[in-house]
Amino acid sequence: MQFTIEVGRYNPDGNYAADAVPGEPYPPPWNRSPVRRYQTYTVELPDHAVVLDALIQIREYQDPSLAVRCACRSAICGSCAMWINGHAHLACKSKLQEFTKNGKTRVESAPSMPVIRDLVCDMSPFWDKHLAVKPWLQAKEPMPPPDQEYRVPNASMEELIQEVSCISCGACLMDCESFAVNADFLGPQALAQAYRYAGDPRDAKTKERLGDYSKPGGVWDCTHCYECVTQCPKGVAPLEQILKLRRMAVDAGYTNNAGTRHADAFATSVKHSGRLNELTLMPKSTGLFNIVGQLKTLPSAINMMRAGKLPPLIHKAIPGVNRIKAIFERVGGRFK
Ligand code: SF4
Ligand code: SF4
Ligand code: FES
Repeated sequence: MQFTIEVGRYNPDGNYAADAVPGEPYPPPWNRSPVRRYQTYTVELPDHAVVLDALIQIREYQDPSLAVRCACRSAICGSCAMWINGHAHLACKSKLQEFTKNGKTRVESAPSMPVIRDLVCDMSPFWDKHLAVKPWLQAKEPMPPPDQEYRVPNASMEELIQEVSCISCGACLMDCESFAVNADFLGPQALAQAYRYAGDPRDAKTKERLGDYSKPGGVWDCTHCYECVTQCPKGVAPLEQILKLRRMAVDAGYTNNAGTRHADAFATSVKHSGRLNELTLMPKSTGLFNIVGQLKTLPSAINMMRAGKLPPLIHKAIPGVNRIKAIFERVGGRFK
Protein backbone atom coordinates (compact mmCIF):
# COMPACT_ATOMS: atom_id res chain seq x y z
CA MET A 1 0.00 0.00 0.00
CA GLN A 2 1.24 3.48 -0.80
CA PHE A 3 1.41 6.12 1.96
CA THR A 4 2.27 9.81 1.74
CA ILE A 5 4.20 11.29 4.66
CA GLU A 6 4.79 14.99 5.18
CA VAL A 7 7.78 15.45 7.46
CA GLY A 8 8.60 18.65 9.35
CA ARG A 9 12.29 19.31 8.71
CA TYR A 10 14.44 21.53 10.82
CA ASN A 11 18.11 22.01 10.20
CA PRO A 12 20.06 24.32 12.49
CA ASP A 13 22.35 25.16 9.53
CA GLY A 14 19.38 26.24 7.48
CA ASN A 15 20.28 23.83 4.65
CA TYR A 16 16.88 22.49 3.72
CA ALA A 17 16.35 19.97 0.96
CA ALA A 18 15.83 21.56 -2.46
CA ASP A 19 12.28 20.24 -2.82
CA ALA A 20 11.19 21.23 0.70
CA VAL A 21 7.90 23.09 1.00
CA PRO A 22 8.11 26.25 3.08
CA GLY A 23 6.26 25.75 6.37
CA GLU A 24 4.47 28.32 8.43
CA PRO A 25 5.39 29.51 11.90
CA TYR A 26 3.21 28.13 14.63
CA PRO A 27 0.66 30.41 16.23
CA PRO A 28 0.85 31.01 19.97
CA PRO A 29 1.02 29.21 22.36
CA TRP A 30 3.39 27.05 20.30
CA ASN A 31 5.56 30.03 19.45
CA ARG A 32 8.77 28.57 20.87
CA SER A 33 9.04 26.31 17.88
CA PRO A 34 11.55 27.25 15.18
CA VAL A 35 10.11 27.66 11.73
CA ARG A 36 10.33 24.36 9.89
CA ARG A 37 9.74 23.21 6.36
CA TYR A 38 7.62 20.28 5.28
CA GLN A 39 8.94 17.71 2.89
CA THR A 40 6.72 15.10 1.28
CA TYR A 41 7.73 11.47 0.76
CA THR A 42 5.88 8.48 -0.67
CA VAL A 43 6.52 5.00 0.71
CA GLU A 44 5.31 1.52 -0.19
CA LEU A 45 4.52 -0.50 2.95
CA PRO A 46 2.12 -3.23 4.13
CA ASP A 47 -1.34 -2.17 5.35
CA HIS A 48 -0.41 -2.73 8.99
CA ALA A 49 2.70 -0.48 8.89
CA VAL A 50 3.23 2.12 11.58
CA VAL A 51 4.54 5.67 11.19
CA LEU A 52 8.01 4.65 12.38
CA ASP A 53 8.23 2.00 9.60
CA ALA A 54 7.71 4.77 7.06
CA LEU A 55 10.29 7.07 8.65
CA ILE A 56 12.90 4.30 8.79
CA GLN A 57 12.22 3.38 5.18
CA ILE A 58 12.64 7.02 4.14
CA ARG A 59 15.88 7.34 6.09
CA GLU A 60 17.33 4.04 4.80
CA TYR A 61 16.27 4.17 1.14
CA GLN A 62 15.33 7.72 0.15
CA ASP A 63 16.90 10.43 2.28
CA PRO A 64 19.73 9.60 4.73
CA SER A 65 19.67 13.20 5.96
CA LEU A 66 16.38 12.62 7.83
CA ALA A 67 16.98 12.52 11.59
CA VAL A 68 14.65 10.33 13.65
CA ARG A 69 15.12 8.87 17.14
CA CYS A 70 13.93 5.36 17.95
CA ALA A 71 15.14 2.19 19.62
CA CYS A 72 12.77 -0.61 20.66
CA ARG A 73 10.04 -0.32 17.98
CA SER A 74 7.75 -1.92 20.58
CA ALA A 75 6.31 1.03 22.57
CA ILE A 76 8.67 0.32 25.47
CA CYS A 77 11.67 2.66 25.29
CA GLY A 78 9.71 5.90 24.80
CA SER A 79 12.22 7.41 22.39
CA CYS A 80 10.00 7.84 19.30
CA ALA A 81 7.41 10.27 20.71
CA MET A 82 6.66 12.98 18.17
CA TRP A 83 3.80 14.99 16.79
CA ILE A 84 1.64 13.06 14.33
CA ASN A 85 -1.17 15.10 12.79
CA GLY A 86 -0.81 17.73 15.51
CA HIS A 87 -0.66 15.58 18.65
CA ALA A 88 2.05 13.62 20.45
CA HIS A 89 2.13 9.87 19.81
CA LEU A 90 4.65 7.06 19.73
CA ALA A 91 5.56 6.62 16.06
CA CYS A 92 6.10 2.89 16.59
CA LYS A 93 2.56 2.46 17.93
CA SER A 94 0.69 4.63 15.43
CA LYS A 95 -0.74 2.78 12.44
CA LEU A 96 -0.33 4.73 9.23
CA GLN A 97 -3.76 3.74 7.95
CA GLU A 98 -5.43 5.19 11.04
CA PHE A 99 -3.48 8.44 10.85
CA THR A 100 -3.81 9.07 7.11
CA LYS A 101 -6.02 12.11 6.61
CA ASN A 102 -6.79 13.59 3.20
CA GLY A 103 -4.31 11.13 1.71
CA LYS A 104 -1.32 11.98 3.94
CA THR A 105 0.12 11.90 7.45
CA ARG A 106 2.01 14.88 8.88
CA VAL A 107 4.90 14.08 11.20
CA GLU A 108 7.11 16.58 13.06
CA SER A 109 8.82 17.20 16.37
CA ALA A 110 6.56 18.63 19.08
CA PRO A 111 6.70 22.42 18.81
CA SER A 112 6.69 22.88 22.58
CA MET A 113 10.13 21.24 22.86
CA PRO A 114 13.45 22.56 21.55
CA VAL A 115 14.38 20.84 18.26
CA ILE A 116 17.84 19.41 17.68
CA ARG A 117 17.17 18.32 14.14
CA ASP A 118 14.10 17.16 12.17
CA LEU A 119 12.16 14.75 14.39
CA VAL A 120 14.68 14.72 17.23
CA CYS A 121 13.79 17.11 20.02
CA ASP A 122 15.91 18.04 23.02
CA MET A 123 14.39 16.24 26.03
CA SER A 124 16.26 18.36 28.59
CA PRO A 125 13.11 20.21 29.77
CA PHE A 126 11.46 16.85 30.37
CA TRP A 127 14.36 15.39 32.38
CA ASP A 128 14.89 18.61 34.34
CA LYS A 129 11.28 18.47 35.51
CA HIS A 130 11.50 14.76 36.21
CA LEU A 131 14.50 15.27 38.50
CA ALA A 132 12.98 18.35 40.15
CA VAL A 133 10.31 16.24 41.92
CA LYS A 134 12.98 13.95 43.46
CA PRO A 135 11.71 10.74 41.86
CA TRP A 136 13.28 8.36 44.32
CA LEU A 137 12.26 6.87 47.64
CA GLN A 138 13.47 8.68 50.76
CA ALA A 139 12.86 5.75 53.04
CA LYS A 140 11.45 5.91 56.55
CA GLU A 141 13.64 4.85 59.47
CA PRO A 142 14.29 2.34 60.79
CA MET A 143 15.27 0.64 57.57
CA PRO A 144 14.80 -3.13 57.58
CA PRO A 145 18.04 -5.11 57.90
CA PRO A 146 19.70 -5.94 54.54
CA ASP A 147 18.41 -9.52 54.56
CA GLN A 148 14.77 -8.45 54.97
CA GLU A 149 12.23 -6.66 52.78
CA TYR A 150 10.51 -3.37 53.47
CA ARG A 151 6.97 -4.77 53.71
CA VAL A 152 3.92 -2.69 52.87
CA PRO A 153 0.28 -3.65 52.30
CA ASN A 154 -0.43 -4.85 48.75
CA ALA A 155 -3.34 -2.43 48.43
CA SER A 156 -1.13 0.62 48.95
CA MET A 157 1.24 -0.47 46.18
CA GLU A 158 -1.61 -1.33 43.80
CA GLU A 159 -2.56 2.31 44.06
CA LEU A 160 0.83 3.20 42.52
CA ILE A 161 0.96 0.71 39.65
CA GLN A 162 -0.47 3.19 37.15
CA GLU A 163 2.45 5.63 37.59
CA VAL A 164 5.06 2.87 37.47
CA SER A 165 3.91 2.10 33.90
CA CYS A 166 5.40 5.39 32.66
CA ILE A 167 8.04 4.89 29.95
CA SER A 168 9.24 8.53 30.05
CA CYS A 169 8.34 9.17 26.43
CA GLY A 170 7.38 12.80 27.10
CA ALA A 171 4.21 12.68 24.96
CA CYS A 172 2.16 14.13 27.81
CA LEU A 173 4.51 17.08 28.28
CA MET A 174 4.72 17.69 24.53
CA ASP A 175 0.93 18.21 24.41
CA CYS A 176 0.46 19.85 27.82
CA GLU A 177 -1.34 23.15 27.30
CA SER A 178 -0.07 24.59 30.56
CA PHE A 179 3.57 23.82 29.68
CA ALA A 180 3.04 25.37 26.25
CA VAL A 181 2.53 28.77 27.87
CA ASN A 182 4.51 28.33 31.08
CA ALA A 183 7.91 26.65 30.78
CA ASP A 184 8.21 26.55 34.60
CA PHE A 185 5.26 24.17 35.05
CA LEU A 186 6.53 20.83 36.34
CA GLY A 187 4.26 19.08 33.88
CA PRO A 188 2.24 15.88 33.82
CA GLN A 189 4.95 13.22 33.81
CA ALA A 190 6.97 14.73 36.65
CA LEU A 191 3.87 15.23 38.77
CA ALA A 192 2.64 11.69 38.11
CA GLN A 193 6.03 10.48 39.35
CA ALA A 194 5.75 12.88 42.28
CA TYR A 195 2.56 11.10 43.31
CA ARG A 196 4.24 7.72 42.90
CA TYR A 197 6.69 8.68 45.68
CA ALA A 198 4.51 10.96 47.81
CA GLY A 199 1.90 8.18 47.87
CA ASP A 200 4.38 5.46 48.82
CA PRO A 201 3.87 4.40 52.44
CA ARG A 202 7.63 3.84 52.81
CA ASP A 203 8.51 7.45 51.99
CA ALA A 204 9.58 9.68 54.89
CA LYS A 205 9.33 13.01 53.07
CA THR A 206 5.72 13.05 51.95
CA LYS A 207 4.88 16.28 53.78
CA GLU A 208 7.94 18.14 52.47
CA ARG A 209 7.23 16.89 48.98
CA LEU A 210 3.64 18.13 49.13
CA GLY A 211 4.89 21.56 50.21
CA ASP A 212 7.25 21.68 47.24
CA TYR A 213 4.64 20.47 44.76
CA SER A 214 2.20 23.18 46.00
CA LYS A 215 4.53 26.02 44.98
CA PRO A 216 4.08 28.02 41.74
CA GLY A 217 4.80 25.70 38.81
CA GLY A 218 3.38 22.74 40.74
CA VAL A 219 0.08 20.92 41.01
CA TRP A 220 -2.09 24.02 40.91
CA ASP A 221 -0.75 25.19 37.54
CA CYS A 222 -2.46 22.34 35.69
CA THR A 223 -5.44 23.65 33.69
CA HIS A 224 -7.29 20.30 33.36
CA CYS A 225 -7.01 20.23 29.58
CA TYR A 226 -6.89 16.39 29.68
CA GLU A 227 -4.28 16.20 26.91
CA CYS A 228 -1.98 14.13 29.12
CA VAL A 229 -4.74 11.61 29.79
CA THR A 230 -5.62 11.35 26.11
CA GLN A 231 -2.08 11.14 24.74
CA CYS A 232 -0.34 8.88 27.25
CA PRO A 233 0.35 5.56 25.49
CA LYS A 234 0.57 3.68 28.80
CA GLY A 235 -2.59 4.77 30.62
CA VAL A 236 -0.73 6.68 33.34
CA ALA A 237 -3.42 9.41 33.32
CA PRO A 238 -1.18 12.08 34.91
CA LEU A 239 -4.09 14.45 35.57
CA GLU A 240 -5.63 11.89 37.95
CA GLN A 241 -2.38 11.76 39.91
CA ILE A 242 -2.19 15.56 40.00
CA LEU A 243 -5.69 15.71 41.50
CA LYS A 244 -4.66 13.18 44.17
CA LEU A 245 -1.61 15.29 45.01
CA ARG A 246 -3.81 18.38 45.36
CA ARG A 247 -6.08 16.60 47.84
CA MET A 248 -3.08 15.31 49.79
CA ALA A 249 -1.49 18.78 49.87
CA VAL A 250 -4.67 20.44 51.15
CA ASP A 251 -5.11 17.72 53.78
CA ALA A 252 -1.51 18.30 54.85
CA GLY A 253 -2.29 22.00 55.43
CA TYR A 254 -0.81 23.57 52.30
CA THR A 255 -3.71 25.94 51.66
CA ASN A 256 -1.99 29.32 51.44
CA ASN A 257 -1.57 29.36 47.68
CA ALA A 258 -3.48 30.71 44.69
CA GLY A 259 -4.64 27.26 43.62
CA THR A 260 -6.31 26.37 46.90
CA ARG A 261 -7.79 29.86 47.25
CA HIS A 262 -9.21 29.55 43.73
CA ALA A 263 -10.80 26.17 44.51
CA ASP A 264 -12.14 27.51 47.82
CA ALA A 265 -13.59 30.65 46.22
CA PHE A 266 -15.22 28.52 43.53
CA ALA A 267 -16.80 26.06 45.98
CA THR A 268 -17.90 28.75 48.47
CA SER A 269 -19.61 30.76 45.76
CA VAL A 270 -21.48 27.74 44.36
CA LYS A 271 -22.49 26.64 47.85
CA HIS A 272 -23.96 30.04 48.79
CA SER A 273 -25.58 31.14 45.54
CA GLY A 274 -25.71 28.04 43.35
CA ARG A 275 -23.42 29.59 40.76
CA LEU A 276 -20.02 31.12 40.29
CA ASN A 277 -19.39 34.72 41.30
CA GLU A 278 -16.88 35.64 38.62
CA LEU A 279 -16.46 39.14 39.99
CA THR A 280 -14.86 37.97 43.22
CA LEU A 281 -13.16 34.82 41.92
CA MET A 282 -9.96 36.49 40.72
CA PRO A 283 -9.40 38.76 43.78
CA LYS A 284 -10.08 35.89 46.18
CA SER A 285 -7.75 33.55 44.27
CA THR A 286 -4.98 36.14 44.28
CA GLY A 287 -5.45 36.85 48.01
CA LEU A 288 -7.45 39.86 49.21
CA PHE A 289 -4.45 41.41 51.00
CA ASN A 290 -1.97 40.64 48.23
CA ILE A 291 -1.83 44.19 46.85
CA VAL A 292 0.97 43.51 44.35
CA GLY A 293 -0.85 40.44 43.05
CA GLN A 294 -4.12 42.37 42.77
CA LEU A 295 -2.40 45.12 40.78
CA LYS A 296 -1.00 42.52 38.39
CA THR A 297 -4.52 41.28 37.60
CA LEU A 298 -5.72 44.80 36.70
CA PRO A 299 -4.77 44.57 32.97
CA SER A 300 -6.86 41.39 32.61
CA ALA A 301 -9.79 43.06 34.36
CA ILE A 302 -9.52 46.10 32.07
CA ASN A 303 -9.36 43.84 28.99
CA MET A 304 -12.50 42.04 30.16
CA MET A 305 -14.30 45.36 30.63
CA ARG A 306 -13.24 46.51 27.18
CA ALA A 307 -14.50 43.27 25.66
CA GLY A 308 -17.84 43.71 27.46
CA LYS A 309 -17.25 40.60 29.55
CA LEU A 310 -17.57 42.14 32.99
CA PRO A 311 -19.70 39.84 35.18
CA PRO A 312 -22.85 41.28 36.86
CA LEU A 313 -22.03 43.58 39.78
CA ILE A 314 -24.88 42.18 41.86
CA HIS A 315 -24.55 38.45 42.33
CA LYS A 316 -27.93 36.78 42.88
CA ALA A 317 -28.58 33.28 44.17
CA ILE A 318 -30.44 30.86 41.91
CA PRO A 319 -33.91 29.67 42.93
CA GLY A 320 -33.70 26.52 45.07
CA VAL A 321 -30.17 27.22 46.26
CA ASN A 322 -30.92 25.29 49.45
CA ARG A 323 -30.80 22.10 47.45
CA ILE A 324 -27.23 22.97 46.39
CA LYS A 325 -26.32 23.60 50.03
CA ALA A 326 -27.80 20.22 50.94
CA ILE A 327 -25.51 18.55 48.38
CA PHE A 328 -22.49 20.19 50.00
CA GLU A 329 -23.69 18.99 53.43
CA ARG A 330 -24.14 15.46 52.16
CA VAL A 331 -20.78 15.30 50.37
CA GLY A 332 -19.04 16.61 53.49
CA GLY A 333 -15.41 17.63 53.47
CA ARG A 334 -14.07 21.16 53.83
CA PHE A 335 -17.18 22.95 52.54
CA LYS A 336 -19.81 21.26 54.70
S1 SF4 B 1 -4.38 18.12 32.30
FE1 SF4 B 1 -2.88 19.47 33.30
S2 SF4 B 1 -0.96 18.35 33.31
FE2 SF4 B 1 -2.35 17.30 31.88
S3 SF4 B 1 -1.80 18.15 29.91
FE3 SF4 B 1 -3.49 19.41 30.68
S4 SF4 B 1 -2.54 21.11 31.81
FE4 SF4 B 1 -0.95 19.56 31.44
S1 SF4 C 1 3.05 9.69 31.67
FE1 SF4 C 1 2.58 8.58 29.78
S2 SF4 C 1 2.88 10.11 28.16
FE2 SF4 C 1 3.86 10.91 29.99
S3 SF4 C 1 5.99 10.29 29.83
FE3 SF4 C 1 4.93 8.69 31.01
S4 SF4 C 1 4.27 7.18 29.50
FE4 SF4 C 1 4.82 9.01 28.36
S1 FES D 1 10.88 3.04 19.38
FE1 FES D 1 10.72 2.60 21.52
S2 FES D 1 8.79 3.44 22.06
FE2 FES D 1 8.87 3.68 19.92
